[in-house]
Amino acid sequence: MSEANITKSIEWREDHVRIIDQTYLPLRTVYCDIRDVGQMWDAIKKLKVRGAPAIGIAAAYGFYLGIKDLELDSFPSFIIEANRIGEYLASSRPTAVNLKWAIDRILNSINALKEKPIDEIKAEVLALAKIIHDEDKRICKAIGLNGQDIIPKKANILTHCNTGSLATGMYGTALSVIYHAHLAGKKIHVWVDETRPLLQGSRLTAWELQNAEIPMNLIVDSAAGHLMKSGKVDLVIAGTDRVAANGDTANKIGTYSLAVIAKENNIPFYIAAPLSSIDMSLNSGDEIPIEERDGKEITQIGTTKIAPPKIETFNPAFDVTPAKYITAFVTEKGIIKGDYSKELKKLFN
Ligand code: MRU
Repeated sequence: MSEANITKSIEWREDHVRIIDQTYLPLRTVYCDIRDVGQMWDAIKKLKVRGAPAIGIAAAYGFYLGIKDLELDSFPSFIIEANRIGEYLASSRPTAVNLKWAIDRILNSINALKEKPIDEIKAEVLALAKIIHDEDKRICKAIGLNGQDIIPKKANILTHCNTGSLATGMYGTALSVIYHAHLAGKKIHVWVDETRPLLQGSRLTAWELQNAEIPMNLIVDSAAGHLMKSGKVDLVIAGTDRVAANGDTANKIGTYSLAVIAKENNIPFYIAAPLSSIDMSLNSGDEIPIEERDGKEITQIGTTKIAPPKIETFNPAFDVTPAKYITAFVTEKGIIKGDYSKELKKLFN
C-alpha cells in the first residue's frame, strides 16, 4: 500500500470541491462536484461525504463556496452573512463536533481580518480551508503512528463504522492505526462490523481494507459479542464524532454495546480521536446531541423494503460510551489514559 493508492474523499479543484459520493460505494466510484454551499449542505446531510473529520473539511470548503460570490463591501454586512452561512452549514448534522469546530475556526479568522478588504478575506478563507484539509492528513498520520504503542505484533482487531481515508483527509483515525500496524509488518487481522443501518463497515471499511490488502472478515454487528467471548478479539478500536471533557465519547450507534462487552471480557477498548473531535465545552456525554435519522434507513436497503409498511421506527445514528469503558484515547499528541477530565484538558494547554 503506497500513499498514491490511498483514496482521497475530498479534493479542492480550482473553483469547486470534488468528493467521492460515498453512498455509491463499494459498487461504483462516483465523483460529485460541489459548486455552492447548498450542494455542500445536501452532501453532508445525505452522507455523500461523512465521518467527523471529513465533514469538518467539507464544511470549511463549503463555507468558502458560500461567501465567494457575496457582493458586499462592508465588513458588518459581510460578517452577518458569514455567520448565517456558518449556522446553515452547522445545521446539516448535529453530532460530529468537527463541523462546528471548522466553522468556528473560519469565523474567528474572518473576525481577525476585519480591517482587510473583503476580497482578501475571501481568499484567506479558502487558504484556511486548505490548511484544515492538509492538517487533517498530518494529524491522521500521527494518530496512526502513535497508535502503534497499543497494537501487538500479532492481533485480531475489531472495528466499527468507517474511520478510514473516506472519513478524513487521509489514512483515517482508528483505521490509520490499523493501516500503520500493517505497514509496520505486524500480523493484523480485522473483524469489520457491518454497521447497520447504513453499512459503513461493509460498504466502506471493508472496501478500504481490501484495497490495502489487509486481512479481514466482515461480520454482522450482533456477532461481535460472541467473538469477544470466544477469545477471537485482542482489542477493539473505533473513532469518534465528539468526546466530552470527561472522556464520554459519541460514535456510531452500536459502539457503546461493543465497549460494555469488551469490558466484560477484559478486552481493551480504544478510541482514536483527533483533538478537533474533543469538545471541552461539554462536561459529559449527556450533553452531546444525538442525530436521529429517517426510519427508511432501517425499513429499506437501497430501494428494497425489509419491514412491513407503515411501521414505526426509531433511528438514533450515534450513542455515547461512558469514559469508564475506554482503555485509552489515541490522539495526534499521543496516548491518553487515566483520569480523562484531567488528561484531556492538558492536551489543550
Ligand atoms: O454517520 P457517519 O458515517 O458520519 O458516522 C461516522 C462515525 O461514526 C465515525 O466512526 C466517526 O465519524 C469517526 S470517523 C474518523
